[in-house]
Amino acid sequence: MHGHLHKPKPGEELHVTFITKDGGQQTFEVAEGDNILDIAQAHGLDMEGACGGSCACSTCHVIVDPDFYDEIPEPDDDENDMLDLAFGLTETSRLGCQVKMSKELDGIRVALPAMTRNLQLKDFN
Ligand code: FES
Repeated sequence: MHGHLHKPKPGEELHVTFITKDGGQQTFEVAEGDNILDIAQAHGLDMEGACGGSCACSTCHVIVDPDFYDEIPEPDDDENDMLDLAFGLTETSRLGCQVKMSKELDGIRVALPAMTRNLQLKDFN
């Protein structure tokens, strides 16, 4: 099992909202340094994370709200290679296990890509 989250210090909670495959939204309070994969798994969301967060698969693919995409440190070569293999790649796709929460990302929204349709930017509206 993955999904060991840290407990946010009082007053330092960060917020992340997941848009699930059925279009629902769930917001969680998380601590700085937790990554999107661990957060999703700790809350029972449908994110596989087959390689356990070692950047060797693409099953933790998320589509990031364009308002936050530029706040995330650039993907490294390994992540880019894996993203190339992700189903339904978009311009704001990232690997969830490589995105760590920081103050800059407080309020970030990420969508879980649906296998049955291509998610579009309008899904964030
Ligand atoms: Fe495999 Fe993120 S869990 S790359």
